Amino acid sequence: MSSGTRRMKTKNKKKEGLGWMEWIRGWACVFHEFLFQRFMSSHLPNPLPLPPLSHLTCIVTGSTSGIGRETARQLAEAGAHVVMAVRNTKAAHDLIQQWQRDWSAKGLPLNIEAMELDLLSLDSVVNFSNAWNARLAPLHVLINNAGIFAMGEEQKFSKDGYEHHMQVNHLAPALLSLLLLPSLNRASPSRIINVNSVMHYVGFVDPDDMNVVSGRRKFSSLVGYSGSKLAQVMFSNVLFKRLPLESRISVVCLSPGIVLTNVARDLPRSVQVQYALIPYFIFSPQEGCRSSLFSATDAQIPEHCEKLKTGDKPICTFISQDCKHTKPSEEAQSLETANRVWEKTVEMIGLPLDALERLIQGQEVQCRYGTHQE
Ligand SMILES: NC(=O)c1ccc[n+]([C@@H]2O[C@H](COP(=O)([O-])OP(=O)(O)OC[C@H]3O[C@@H](n4cnc5c(N)ncnc54)[C@H](OP(=O)(O)O)[C@@H]3O)[C@@H](O)[C@H]2O)c1
Repeated sequence: MSSGTRRMKTKNKKKEGLGWMEWIRGWACVFHEFLFQRFMSSHLPNPLPLPPLSHLTCIVTGSTSGIGRETARQLAEAGAHVVMAVRNTKAAHDLIQQWQRDWSAKGLPLNIEAMELDLLSLDSVVNFSNAWNARLAPLHVLINNAGIFAMGEEQKFSKDGYEHHMQVNHLAPALLSLLLLPSLNRASPSRIINVNSVMHYVGFVDPDDMNVVSGRRKFSSLVGYSGSKLAQVMFSNVLFKRLPLESRISVVCLSPGIVLTNVARDLPRSVQVQYALIPYFIFSPQEGCRSSLFSATDAQIPEHCEKLKTGDKPICTFISQDCKHTKPSEEAQSLETANRVWEKTVEMIGLPLDALERLIQGQEVQCRYGTHQE
């Protein structure tokens, strides 16, 4: 077989999915996390103690449930100004009232508010960003926490035309991160934190088929979820690489561990019960939010990011469920694919290719989404 044919075969295989070895290695990482997360994180206190945070403003997406809800509450109790960016503002206001009541005997009222954000609508992302940026306030920490794993569900598409997992877990947070750059820049040093997953190890992204519709791969919710999480790490690597060092905006992806939350809401009731019956292995949301809280507040993160940036292969920081610095999967570190994922993502979210550079310089950028545009 000529080397040209071999190259072509490898390229075609790359369009279909991971190689067997990568796939087995990926699942080994997933099972390792499931079986040993509690042992590996036994050094961590629960809850994770936080320093006083009254100097920080943090946006937490998807904070009405699970990991995000616990993250928002603990950040607010440590004194941060917290913005719950949620699709169900009524649920967020009810939570705020409850938290204020529980906290009233302990100190000053919590500095927490809710704003509407529906990640299944890129218009909503643009409107949220415009509303936030219009305050001309600094944003120290953006936590892209909201996510879906519609287990066993059929493939669905948003009104923007994108596969649900890809839109909620990757495309919409990518748009949000880029559009909020002016506010993050104002607060520098600041952080973009992506609640990712060990499942990115078994993910595969074909930049020419982000919606998994070409027929080269069969869609399942697992393919949708793991692919969207891998796309997020790849995008974050390029975002991190392209952000100027002097912006001092850190980009972090993290794994919360395997956590008992509403993420399993689409599983049949019988499976949900079995899932809840294995508490030894599964983290509570309070345990699962430790890597988010650590990534948002650890004082060493900006320095670590600066070191990574000046290294030979700039990839963003990845924090494991036991709050340690680790590396994402080999596939996620492929800069060639990551660059293509970046370009495809920027095109899909309706921004020009130089959006990052323009936004960081405080220039206006037109997005094809948002109610103020055609
Ligand atoms: N649980 C785990 O084992 C695990 C493992 C690895 C990674 N993660 C990641 O952790 C993150 C948090 O998930 P979780 O486990 O805490 O699940 P969860 O309890 O289901 O919380 C997910 C949150 O995302 C919000 N959300 C869903 N779709 C949205 C949309 N279109 N627009 C705005 N918000 C939306 C949900 O809002 P509603 O309350 O309105 O539904 C909810 O607040 C996700 O990114 C998930 O992928 C979880």
